[in-house]
Amino acid sequence: MTEVSDSYTLDNLDELESNVLSDLKSISNESEAESFRIKYLGKKGVFRQLLKSLGSIDPQKRKEVGAKANRLRSLVETEFSKAHWKKESAEVVDKSFDPSLPGFPFHKGSLHPLMQIRDQIRDIFISMGFTVSYGPEVESDFYNFEALNTPKHHPARDMQDTFYIDQNHLLRTHTSPVQIRVMENQKPPIRSIMPGRVYRNEEISARSYCLFHQVEGLYVDKDVSFADLKGTLLAFSKRFFDEETKIKIRPSFFPFTEPSVEIDVECFLCKGQGCSICKQSGWLEVLGAGMVHPNVFKSVGIDPEKYTGFAFGMGIERIALLKFGIDDIRLFYENDTRFLSQF
Ligand code: DAH
Repeated sequence: MTEVSDSYTLDNLDELESNVLSDLKSISNESEAESFRIKYLGKKGVFRQLLKSLGSIDPQKRKEVGAKANRLRSLVETEFSKAHWKKESAEVVDKSFDPSLPGFPFHKGSLHPLMQIRDQIRDIFISMGFTVSYGPEVESDFYNFEALNTPKHHPARDMQDTFYIDQNHLLRTHTSPVQIRVMENQKPPIRSIMPGRVYRNEEISARSYCLFHQVEGLYVDKDVSFADLKGTLLAFSKRFFDEETKIKIRPSFFPFTEPSVEIDVECFLCKGQGCSICKQSGWLEVLGAGMVHPNVFKSVGIDPEKYTGFAFGMGIERIALLKFGIDDIRLFYENDTRFLSQF
C-alpha cells in the first residue's frame, strides 16, 4: 500500500485518485482491507481531511474542487464495498457449496414428431434443388380459392370445410395459396416447397382435427411434363419410405390441376401384402398432385402457352401417423410429454 501521506491536497486530486485505486486493487485479505478503510475512509482518513480543508480555499474554485473530491470519495466507497462484498459472499458460497452433490437433472427436449417429418420431407426436396417458401395462415378468399381456379359457388369448395373470418378472409384450408404467392413474386423456373399449418372446420376425431400440416410443392418451367411429376415423386418416395417403394397413380380431381391425380405408395410395413395400417389394400394414400391448370397460370400472369408445371400437396399428419404407427391424430396436439418423449 502506498505510504500514508499528509501531502494530498485539493490541488493533487489526480495523484490521489491513481494511488487510491491501485491500493484498492492490491487488497488481498481482511486486514489489508481494514488498513485501507482507516487510511482513506476513516474518521481521520484522507477524504475527511481533504473535505475539511475545502473551507479554506477560494470560493470560486471550491465548488469545482469539492465536487471532484466528493465524486472520488463515493467511487472509492462503492468500489471498496464491492470488493468487500465479493470476498464475503465468496466465503459463504464456499461453505455451502458441496461439489460432490449430483447436479439438477433436466429433461432434454426433442423436435415434435410432426416437425421431424416436416424436416425430413423438406431436406429431401432441398437436395433435389427445391427452395422453401412460406405464406400466411390467414388468407384472402382470392389466394385460397379464387386464384386456384375455384370461384365462389364452385362445388369443389365443399371439399374443404372452411373457417371464415369475414366475407373475404379465412384460415387457409391448404398450402396451395402459397403457390400463388410464389408465382406472383418469382419468374419461372420455379422449384419450391411450401410447408405450413392449415385449418378445416371438421369434427374432431381420431382421424381428423381442426388444424393440420401440409407440404405443398411446385415446379414451373418450360416443358415440365407429367413424367417429371412422376419421376420427382417416385424419387421422393424412395428416399422417404424405402428404396424398394413403388407408387401408384390414380386419376382424381382438384380444380387447380389438370390432369389431377392421387398418389399411393406401397405400404412400407407389409410391402404390399396387406396389413392393418393399409387396411389390407397394400397401398397408402399420401398425396394429391397434378399439372398446374392454365387458369392458375393466368391468375398470376404466367403464360400457359410458354410454361407448364406440376404441383402436389401432402399431409404431414397422415404421413406421421403411418410412419410412426399412431392411431389417433389428437395425440399430436395434446402435448402430453409421455407421448412426445417417445420421439
Ligand atoms: N390442396 C390439396 C388439398 O389440400 C392438395 C393438393 C392436390 C395440392 C393437388 C396440390 C395439387 O398442389 O396439385 O387437398
